[in-house]
Amino acid sequence: MIDQFGRRIEYARISVTDRCNLRCRYCMPECGVEKIPHDEILTFEEILRVVKIFARLGIKKIRLTGGEPLLRKNLPALIRDIKNISGVEIVTMTTNGVLIEKFAADLIAAGIDGVNISVDTLDEKIFSSLTRRKFFANVLRGLKILLSYGKNIKLNCVPLRGVNEDDVLKLVELARENFIDLRFIELMPIGCAIDSKLEGIPTAEIFSLIESHCGKLYPAEKKFLQGPAEYFRAENFIGRIGFIDALEHKFCGTCNRIRLTAEGFLKPCLNFGIGLDVKNLLRSGVDDEKIFTAIERTIYYKPREHFFNLKNNLCDERKMYQVGG
Ligand code: 5AD
Ligand code: SF4
Repeated sequence: MIDQFGRRIEYARISVTDRCNLRCRYCMPECGVEKIPHDEILTFEEILRVVKIFARLGIKKIRLTGGEPLLRKNLPALIRDIKNISGVEIVTMTTNGVLIEKFAADLIAAGIDGVNISVDTLDEKIFSSLTRRKFFANVLRGLKILLSYGKNIKLNCVPLRGVNEDDVLKLVELARENFIDLRFIELMPIGCAIDSKLEGIPTAEIFSLIESHCGKLYPAEKKFLQGPAEYFRAENFIGRIGFIDALEHKFCGTCNRIRLTAEGFLKPCLNFGIGLDVKNLLRSGVDDEKIFTAIERTIYYKPREHFFNLKNNLCDERKMYQVGG
């Protein structure tokens, strides 16, 4: 559907859990987080009911996120059921990769259309220190399985000053040799990133570093329902290199997405706390038409743009692992 500013909203990110098996310094505190009680999380039946309504409103692409979505039991079954909803064309997932080796076959059998995997580093020591967990080998094995599968794989890296700077060019080598989209995401001042003392590296700096090693980067073609990343190709590269710099270049004008938290709160914009308590509606016994109208209104009033740089009292206090990125 079209919102009040003429944007076509076609993409929903659905967080299926707030739990995670890593503790990335920019995302979660060391001690973990207070878990949402099980019955406050949407059930698969509830998620499917909402997705059917989303599809009627013109949402074509669903991305499952977390926390870590693979911690949710039977996730492949949910993917298969979402794939079967008429109007849904693409179902993807964002994962930290720890459990990919365990579930790859089931995910593929369920018909998953793409996987984003967070790979901030290819160095075991840096991985353990950044994520506070020793799962590097698992992620590496998962990554290899995905690369051999080869369909719509995106690698996400958040470059951090003095932490994983050396990984930038190592990851770029993966994009040279594999059919992947490698994306560099600028650290956003959300949740733990604010007081983690970590410093993100500006996109422009990463861009020049890559050009100085690989030659000129040429803008690449846009793909169907592509998100906010700007993609480039270097000479003789099989993969593409993308950049997401939410702070410098706002992409709010072309934003096509909405978000549903694990607790069933519909957020039309990442930055704002406003939205709709869909769970409450789902559990109040009202019919689908009531929920349809409420969701339609929430999407219509999607805010014009974010203000990450200006803290104000409308800003959402939810953390990244609660919203799903
Ligand atoms: N800024 C930028 N990216 C972040 N992610 C998590 N927190 C932040 C943040 N504060 C990234 C993860 C993952 C993606 C879903 O979001 O690294 O790749
Ligand atoms: Fe988990 Fe992703 Fe947060 Fe890391 S960034 S702690 S993998 S949810």
